Amino acid sequence: MAERVTVQVSEPYDVLLGAGLDLGETVSGRVPPGEGAILTDSTVGPLYAGEVRRSLEAAGWRVADPIEVPAGESSKSLGVYAGVVSELSRSGLPRDGTLFALGGGVVGDLGGFVAATYLRGVGFVGLPSSLLAMVDSSVGGKVGVDLPEGKNLVGSFLRPRLVAADTRWLGSLPGSEVSAGLAEVVKMGLLADGGFLRELGRVVEARSGEEAALQSLVSRSVRFKAGVVAGDEYEGGRRAILNYGHTVGHGLEAAAGYLLSHGEAVAAGMVAAARVSSEVFGTDLSETHEELLVAAGLPRKVPAVEVGKVFAAMRRDKKRRSGDAPGDYRFVLLEDLGEPVWGVRVAEDQAARAVEGVLER
Ligand SMILES: NC(=O)c1ccc[n+]([C@@H]2O[C@H](COP(=O)([O-])OP(=O)(O)OC[C@H]3O[C@@H](n4cnc5c(N)ncnc54)[C@H](O)[C@@H]3O)[C@@H](O)[C@H]2O)c1
Ligand SMILES: [Zn+2]
Repeated sequence: MAERVTVQVSEPYDVLLGAGLDLGETVSGRVPPGEGAILTDSTVGPLYAGEVRRSLEAAGWRVADPIEVPAGESSKSLGVYAGVVSELSRSGLPRDGTLFALGGGVVGDLGGFVAATYLRGVGFVGLPSSLLAMVDSSVGGKVGVDLPEGKNLVGSFLRPRLVAADTRWLGSLPGSEVSAGLAEVVKMGLLADGGFLRELGRVVEARSGEEAALQSLVSRSVRFKAGVVAGDEYEGGRRAILNYGHTVGHGLEAAAGYLLSHGEAVAAGMVAAARVSSEVFGTDLSETHEELLVAAGLPRKVPAVEVGKVFAAMRRDKKRRSGDAPGDYRFVLLEDLGEPVWGVRVAEDQAARAVEGVLER
């Protein structure tokens, strides 16, 4: 049985989660069968595109040969985007057709942007296959591609018709990618507190691939993110809390020339944010952070980089506002577990101490 979470935005959509979903049936119960196209990547396609296609066809869909892009962030580019829309156009996907994005966050973000723009918009169904995509990127409607100048600089908001995730797909996910997804799970558990935070005790089981633990953490995360997104679809306010650990995290990622994975950078970013939080609010949550990150297989510190580069990247952050002084940064902090505050101005020297604290020396 699939679990259903409804994302209550202006046009609500469902996220269906389960182990061993009958995808054709699951999808067709909500989106009437018609013409479909599958976008996937070179790792996920050979593993799952065949079964997804057969299942959709058995439910009455007409599905063209899957479009496969190279696995990895480099496919979130305008060049690959152009190739995909051309291919859809050649295969003749009509305006009432549906694009299925089967893969991680890269395929989801790219596919969503394709679906938002090809013929000014076709139907979109997310089939997230990585843990990060299941718990984070497939929910919330942000889609887009990168530019050479920076990540996610071109994009839009798109409401999918449906998101369906078969947690069995996680069985083939490399351990480092499981940890990357767990970084966002830990983030949301710290923001949520209560039952979700306690459930983070199962991170270790989830890491070793235990299905019930994975299922439960995915479900908690999707429900949490759906709730935040529903309250602030276009990120005018509270949705910003989802950037916890990401201000410093993005700075570290950029300063390390993207040798650091997003999950590792966010892990260290959360430790830095916890330190600033304890200075500002007097509640020391560092130990809670560190224990959870170790359990998730994530570092608490990252190889040293030039602090100046971290700040240069933080200054370019999209979340900065036009009136901000050059030496001020906006942080999401935790007043306590489950009590995030966002848009907190932190001066450069305080931010610098926190960044220094997460660098290996
Ligand atoms: N739209 C949003 O709100 C949002 C939120 C967070 C992240 N993102 C974006 O998501 C992207 C990162 O997502 P990601 O971590 O899923 O990256 P990804 O799509 O590159 O997937 C990571 C790797 O895992 C492989 N993979 C995926 N599923 C697999 C499976 N079931 N079995 C084996 N291998 C599998 C992929 O081929 C890839 O090599 C970034 O581009 C980021 O900007 C978007
Ligand atoms: Zn993230």
